[in-house]
Amino acid sequence: MDTSIHITPSTERQVLETRSLPFGKIPTEHMFQAVYSEDHWHSARIVPFEDLTLSPLALCLHYGQTVFEGLKAFRQSDGRIQVFRLNRHAARFSKSLERMCMPQVSEQLFHEAIMSLVRLDSDWVPQDLDGSLYLRPFMIATEPRIGVKVSDEYLFMVVATPAYSYYNKPLRVKLETNFSRAAEGGTGYAKCGGNYGGAFLPTRRAAEEGFDQVIWTDAKSHYFIEESGTMNLMFYWNGRLRTPPLSSSILDGVTRDSLLHLAKDMGIPTETSPIAWHELESALAKGEKLEAFGAGTAAVVAPISTLSINGNDYTCYTGSDAVMFRLRDRLNEIRRGLAPDPYGWNHLL
Ligand SMILES: Cc1ncc(COP(=O)(O)O)c(C=O)c1O
Repeated sequence: MDTSIHITPSTERQVLETRSLPFGKIPTEHMFQAVYSEDHWHSARIVPFEDLTLSPLALCLHYGQTVFEGLKAFRQSDGRIQVFRLNRHAARFSKSLERMCMPQVSEQLFHEAIMSLVRLDSDWVPQDLDGSLYLRPFMIATEPRIGVKVSDEYLFMVVATPAYSYYNKPLRVKLETNFSRAAEGGTGYAKCGGNYGGAFLPTRRAAEEGFDQVIWTDAKSHYFIEESGTMNLMFYWNGRLRTPPLSSSILDGVTRDSLLHLAKDMGIPTETSPIAWHELESALAKGEKLEAFGAGTAAVVAPISTLSINGNDYTCYTGSDAVMFRLRDRLNEIRRGLAPDPYGWNHLL
């Protein structure tokens, strides 16, 4: 496969004051794209950001054959730029593609696409310590044909947008025991578009009741905690950091994995085992100190202040000495180059 990337730089530089921009609305000046047809990838290029031309018959518009990733580039305290855990995101992209019957992208092309785009738009990586450049690689099925089939043509693209804090206050979340996000054997572990579209209605209903997010439970018994929106869930109580085990219905979050590693390094016992919601409810009802938080690339660590279980609102611990903030701070220190990077997570430009 030819992975050389043809670059056409934009003739106008237009870096904006990014801090006040809403997340995900303003792209950087360039985008990467490569085309798949006749069984191979070709025409890899970086061009000024522009709208796509797509046939209304394109398969992705009808049957949901789409996959994406979300990762971030950070400016370290010494000014150098790094992309966090590029390899792990590449591996997850590959798994998602396999599940959705889409052609693989070589790790080399995935790397080159991202690093070349970040290099060209490096001015867009915020200087501020709480800012980053969010990178969105994605693939869509483009073959123009109405008919339920695996596409023979695809577009692999990367776009980027500056990002700051995702949630600006602790979350109120609701345990969801009617709707399901994903079932065993389904596509929950893949980062494919349909998983998100299907979550909109329950999330909107929860928002109408005043909640920021729902906590998904397993589709079979609605008894075990799975994940939340665009975050894995973690809990700290009784001296242990707990999170549900991975399964075919949970996304293998990179932040989850990073925090589990850091917790071990920091001497915090971790446990990856099923968590029944009644365990949480009985601890909270007894007034035990319990931390609950979401872990994800966009939000990093999102503290949960209220957990609503079967109509009862419980308060989770969000004090400034909470373990989740120690974990978040350690992760941020590594990403900023302020602490050693023992696992080689920072992929420097
Ligand atoms: C459904 C879902 N779960 C969990 C996560 C967290 O994963 P990561 O930490 O890799 O961003 C995400 C975000 O990508 C997500 O969309």
